[in-house]
Amino acid sequence: MPLERLDPVNPDPRLIERAAELLRAGRLVAFPTETVYGLGANAMSAEAVQRIYNAKGRPAYNPLIVHVASAELATTVAQTFDYRAQKLADAFWPGPLTLVLPKRPEVPDAVTAGLPSVAVRVPSHPVAHALLSAARIPVAAPSANRSTQVSPTSGAHVLKSLGDSVDLILDAGPTPVGIESTVLDLSGEMPALLRPGTISIRDLETVIGPIAHAADQRGEAPRRSPGMLDKHYAPRARVHVVNASDVGIRMEHERANVQRVGAIVIEAEVESTPSVIHMPNDALGYAARLYDALHTLDDAACDVIIIERVPDDPAWAGVADRIRRAASSD
Ligand code: TXA
Ligand code: MG
Repeated sequence: MPLERLDPVNPDPRLIERAAELLRAGRLVAFPTETVYGLGANAMSAEAVQRIYNAKGRPAYNPLIVHVASAELATTVAQTFDYRAQKLADAFWPGPLTLVLPKRPEVPDAVTAGLPSVAVRVPSHPVAHALLSAARIPVAAPSANRSTQVSPTSGAHVLKSLGDSVDLILDAGPTPVGIESTVLDLSGEMPALLRPGTISIRDLETVIGPIAHAADQRGEAPRRSPGMLDKHYAPRARVHVVNASDVGIRMEHERANVQRVGAIVIEAEVESTPSVIHMPNDALGYAARLYDALHTLDDAACDVIIIERVPDDPAWAGVADRIRRAASSD
């Protein structure tokens, strides 16, 4: 089994060196970031990057995020790093923010799906940081799951989804942020939010001023960020989103038709069973546990999952987006 456990704060340097060696040799290493587990490969090798697409069953038009150890190293893949990028890097790196910037010509087309831009971020997880520092190469890493499935927030999730198609899984336990990074496009004149995350549009605007919400412009987000296709982040079960007061009734209704009904609730008053997962009433706490809840209910063979609607507030936008995608039947 290619899975090795390590301490999330003080990872064993010998294990990190082994993983770095594999990356330099063009192999695949799954590793924890603060958001979700990534499936890493040498970003400067088209052949290594191709292995990511094969292992995930990912369509070639969906570009990857490149991870580097520090903001200074962003220019190993980005052609320019303007004052907006610098201000955002000062405020949010290392952390769950990805910047889309004009790419350097030496970045393989396989990484960017042929786009003239590249997505880059500096993760804050100590294991990711240690690995990137030891590897001394930029590391392309999408979430370490089969394409369209729910992203992994534990080593066990990675193993379940990708198994032997990975050369090594570094398992440092659950990831603290729990949903993927906020993606901001800085390749044009007007910054555009391509994917909401736990760093909100409000947080970003405080630093660089007005940002366009690409996801609001019909058809625009998928074109600018091909990964934002709707069928994504989806559990096996059918997912319905309802108001708190309707959760109980909807569960009853579904029980008439299917074997097992699960629920993810905040305040809804429903009987506690192993298939009812209670979530914290704050966006960060909720995000940290959302994917684990979806994996748990899938593993429990739920046919239907009822999710209580979350607050309509910028702080919850990342969570609301992932729930909407989980519920999407496209
Ligand atoms: O938190 C995260 O971002 C995780 C961890 C592992 O870092 N990674 C992740 O990667 O979520 P992935 O491949 O699942 O999502 C990458 C997203 C996709 O929506 C993709 O379309 C977008 O970033 N993206 C990548 N390069 C882009 C580019 N040049 N222009 C626009 N969007 C881009
Ligand atoms: Mg993904």
